[in-house]
Parts: sequence; C-alpha cells; structure tokens
Amino acid sequence: MNEPARYLLTAALPYANGPLHIGHIAGAYLPADIYARYLRARGKDVAFISGSDEHGAAITLRARKDGKTPREIVDAYHALMRDTFRDFGISFDIYHRTSSPEHYRTSQDIFLRLLEKGAFTTETSQQYFDEEAGQFLADRYITGECPKCHNEKAYGDQCEKCGSSLSPLELINPKSTLSGNTPVLRETSHWYLPMEHHSNWIGDYISKGALDGKSHHDPRQWKAHVLGQCMSWIDGGLHARAMTRDLDWGVPVPVEGAGGKVLYVWLDAPIGYITNTKVWADQNGKNWEDYWKRDDTHLVHFIGKDNIVFHCIIFPIILREHGDFVLPVNVPANEFMNLEGEKISTSRNWAVWLHEYLLDFPGRQDEMRYVLCSIMPEQKDSEFTWSDFRERVNNELADILGNFVNRVFVLTHKYYEGTIPSSDGYEQGDADRRAMAEALAAFEACGLKIGQYRFREALAEAMNIARAGNKYLTETEPWKLQKTDPIRTAAILFQCVRMTGLLATALEPFLPYTAARLREGLGTEQRNWDASAHDLVLRPGHKIGHVPILFEKITEEQIATQVEKLHRSNESAVRAANPIREAIAFEDFQKLDLRVVRVVSAEPVPKTRKLLKLVVDTGVDQRTVISGIAEHYTPEELPGKHVLYLANLAPREIKGITSQGMILMGENASGRLAALVPERPLGPGDEVR
Ligand code: 2FM
Ligand code: ZN
Repeated sequence: MNEPARYLLTAALPYANGPLHIGHIAGAYLPADIYARYLRARGKDVAFISGSDEHGAAITLRARKDGKTPREIVDAYHALMRDTFRDFGISFDIYHRTSSPEHYRTSQDIFLRLLEKGAFTTETSQQYFDEEAGQFLADRYITGECPKCHNEKAYGDQCEKCGSSLSPLELINPKSTLSGNTPVLRETSHWYLPMEHHSNWIGDYISKGALDGKSHHDPRQWKAHVLGQCMSWIDGGLHARAMTRDLDWGVPVPVEGAGGKVLYVWLDAPIGYITNTKVWADQNGKNWEDYWKRDDTHLVHFIGKDNIVFHCIIFPIILREHGDFVLPVNVPANEFMNLEGEKISTSRNWAVWLHEYLLDFPGRQDEMRYVLCSIMPEQKDSEFTWSDFRERVNNELADILGNFVNRVFVLTHKYYEGTIPSSDGYEQGDADRRAMAEALAAFEACGLKIGQYRFREALAEAMNIARAGNKYLTETEPWKLQKTDPIRTAAILFQCVRMTGLLATALEPFLPYTAARLREGLGTEQRNWDASAHDLVLRPGHKIGHVPILFEKITEEQIATQVEKLHRSNESAVRAANPIREAIAFEDFQKLDLRVVRVVSAEPVPKTRKLLKLVVDTGVDQRTVISGIAEHYTPEELPGKHVLYLANLAPREIKGITSQGMILMGENASGRLAALVPERPLGPGDEVR
C-alpha cells in the first residue's frame, strides 16, 4: 500500500453528560493522542478530530436527573471536558460540539442526500407513548420486568442484571420513567437504514479489507476482537435500524411534516467528525474535502469497544451510501478498564475523575498518562489500582527514567560545566557500541509499534532507551574513570546525552510534559522523529541547561487517600440513589416467609453469564432456585452453606427452568453480593422473623 498523503484521526465524541474518567482516556483518547503526536513528529499531515456528543437519551436523562435543561447540561460538560482534555495534553486539532449550527447543517445535508439517493426506507411501527408527558419514550425511558431473569428494573434496551439486550415491547409491566404511568402504544413512522442490503460489501470490507473488488486495507492489522464483534453482527444477519427518533432534543429531521422528529444520535454523532473537520479546516486555511474525500487519506477511528458496530458497520454504510467519502482503514478499538476490582461506573461514582486527579496531583499528567498507557486495555479488559499506579511511578518513571536523566545532567555539569564533551581520540569498545545500538533499536521499535497501534509495547520500548542508558552507566562507572581516563569519560557522557535526546523524542507522544522538560534542559527544539536518530544538535560544544527532578515518588499515604476517597464517594452516590423506601404495614411484612436453607448443589445455567441453578434443602423438601449470583460465587463454594431464602415467592420460569423462591443476598455499594449466613448455627427450615 502506498504511503498515505494525510491522516484523518478521529477520537469518539464523548457524551457531554458527565466529567471524564480514566477509562475514557485509556480507551480512546490516549491511544489516539499518542498516534497523532507520533505522526506529527514524523512530519505527516494530520487532522486529529474530536468533540462533544450532545444529543441522545444520555443527555436528556442527565438533564432530568439534575433538574436542568439539556442545553444547560451540554454547555457545562462540554466546557469541562474540553478543558480536561487540554489539561491532559490530548492534542486535538479541534474539539467542537454537535449542538452547533454548523453541525445541524452538515448532518441535515447528509441526511437529505441519503434520502434523495433512496438510502432509507420508511416504516410505521407501534411505540410506547407517555400520555401524561405527551411524548414517545426512548428505550431508556421505559423500565419493567426483564422477560428473561425477571429483574424488575430492566430498561427498554437492556437488562443490566442478566445482560440481555431487549426491546421495550418485551418488557413485562412497562412503566414510563417520566410519569411512572403505564405507557400506551402509538403508531409512528421513521426513516430506516436497511443494513441488510449492505451485508455483502460490508462483509468483504471487514473480513477481507476489500472494497469494490480492490484491496482497501489489510484486515490482519485489525484487532481480533474488533473483527470478531463485526463478523458476529454480520453473520447474525443485519437488520434495518431507525435513523430518526421522536424526541425534542437533537438535530431536527429536515423534512416537511417531520415535526417532533430528530436524527438518531448514532447518525448525527459520527457525522460530527465531518462537521468538526470542516470547522477546523475553515479556521486553518485547509480544505476539509482533502481529508474526507481523497483516497490517499488514511482514516482511523479511535473508540472504545462499545462503539465498534457504529464505526465499523453503520457509519461506513452511511459514508458509502452518501458517496464521495473515504472509509476507515482501521478501527483500533480498546476494551474496557476496570478500577480496583470493579467496573468503572459513573452512576455509582466508582471512577477516577481526571479533573479531580489534577487537583490532587497538580502538574502530574504524565504519571497518569504513563500508567494508563502501560495498562491500556488493547486486547482485553485491564485493571487500574492505586497501588499499581504508585509502583509504576516509583519503580519505573522515577527509578529508571528519572534516575538516568538526572545522572546524565548531574555528571555533565559536574565534569564539563554543562558543555557536551568531545569524544575525539576515543576508540569505542563493546559496551559503548552495545549501549547505543540498544538505544537505537528500542527507538526504532517504539516507532514501529506505535504504527501498529501497540502502544503498551511501544512505551516499553521507549523506556528501554533509559534502561540501556542506566546499564551503560552501571557498566562503565564514569564517575570512577574521570580522574584516570578523562577521554573515555567524555565519550561516555557524550553518548549518554545523545541517548537523553533520543528519549526526548521517543517519549513525546506518551509523556509530552516530560519531553518538554527534557528538551528545555537539553536546549533543543522538538525534533523530527527520524532526524533524532542521527542527532545533529546534541554535539560536542553544545551547552545543556538543567532539568528538575522529573518524577517525585508517590507515597503510601497519597494512595490510601485516593482509595478512601473512591470508596467514600461511591457509598454516598449509591446511598443517595437508593433512599429507604416508603413504610409498609406489619401485615405486609408478615406475608414474607423467610427461612434458612442449606444449599445442596449448584451448577451454572448454560448460555448465561450470571445465573446459577441451585438445589436447596428447606427442611421440608428440596427445591430448585435460579439465582443471579454466578459472577460472585463459583458453584463449588456454595454447597453446605446455610443462606437466607424467601420461601413463598410464586414460582417463575427462568431460562426454561422453574425457579422456586429466592435466595436473598446483601449487596454493597460497588455491587458485590454476599450470602447472608447465620451468626449462630441454624438448620434448614428455621424461620427468619
Ligand atoms: O459512547 C459514546 O460516548 C458516544 N457518545 C460516542 C460517539 S462516537 C461518534 F460517533 F461520535
Ligand atoms: Zn434480565
């Protein structure tokens, strides 16, 4: 494939409904930023585009919860997110917004062009309508009982208890979250994208990297989990998906008689990449069409794994139906990052918020960037813990990188007053040659790996330059040689300064603040990546300045404070969302037949992640109970336990099995379940009152 003429890099437009946390950054923005910075350092033409996604139920739900208008919500969070990205050094060329007039125009124009080209079908269907609120209900605005696991708080699109995707019509006893009333079905018409018409070409595009019978990209460079998710969608059969919604917040459908309808948020949001490129191009004397319409553009979408189908299937269909536009050559989606053993959750406030991190650790962006890149969930989910953060900062950044740089600067000032010494008259030995060869090999590998979206390995390679430098200093001990062999000492220090120069270039994509401090200390400008390998600046006679201590160690107390803060804010969020319910009569309580039972056996329910089938001894009989605890207990650890049981709950059918009664569990603020076992011995059938 030819060298691309320009790079168009997009990073998912985050919903403007809350602050940014470490999972956002590790998922999409840090990898995109590393890639963009690297390409710029290689002198490439790069447009790095992002912005806020300001439509959809994510926004309107937040507004309702906070008693604000959607406009107030997006204004506040757009500004906060834009500033947080800036403060973390995410180097977007533009961070614009989808509630802007430019975006209304662009997305409406694209919608109309698709309409003219016959890309949509129209369909009429029955959808839930809240008569009191006078509006159709988005899936998230309907709750009810899950038909699969009978969780009573399932949403219209998903049951969070058993993980099933649902449609609102499947919910048992649906209720509107707007009024609490039972919604009624009303007829409504929408424009649909008949994705099933596109299965063939999109299948070839994904699995073979082929478009119009020609090679478009190399699918072997795509991540296995991205290809896997796409192919399972395609193989499962694509279906028509509505591209409009009945809502009062969004881009209005630009068709007469379509009052009250807006573009589906997943149609308008990715078009935001185009809008924002236009705005950037206008502001910078560029032509946006070069970036979106010329085949020698290399388009890459950086996203998290929950966005894969939208970027690999739906948006490519839109782009191609429109015509003229290029399609992505890669979508290197990341998986998810967990936090201290739990999923990151905004609603439960189980997160490390980036703007708060910067208040607690001012000026220490690179420490967080370093750790997030080191554990980036590139191929599988990963986990952030504060103790690991501390270890990586102290043992790697401070002890390896900081230590090498500090020794080089100190020695150069001590022996040569900061002027790079000459190595004239010195014949290199094995250790000298090996050290530089290792550093250069690591530098080259770092660049190659960034190009392959392997950012964790690339960062490790950049650190290997410092490792090679430390090894070289330990082997040669110039501080012992200075008196006896000044020529060799000078040659060693000269090499070490050049390795520091290499580090300044290699680290820039990952640790831009540290790289800037290094450049300032070395007295160099930011240099072209390729030119750094054969350095023409850091030559004998060049005067270097000073660098501050690059990384202070993180203390145990700092970490303990963060862990405590995490738990405290989590607990208060969960308590606030879950106040004590209204009083019930004693007679109502008496209706519950609560017992102690002994678990006789437990086994997983096939094809489910969360369900176990238990047999329990009630003292009277043996019963089968389906329990959603498989993520908290293995089948092996349950038999023999005495647990709390609601004996007179009417039997229910779950996954084709009749479940009698219910095992009761305690749940803590992070959603962890615990069996309630008697504090003194009690036997099967003993009552609980
Ligand atoms: O998942 C999300 O946060 C979406 N707002 C991402 C949109 S990406 C693109 F389509 F704009
Ligand atoms: Zn369910």
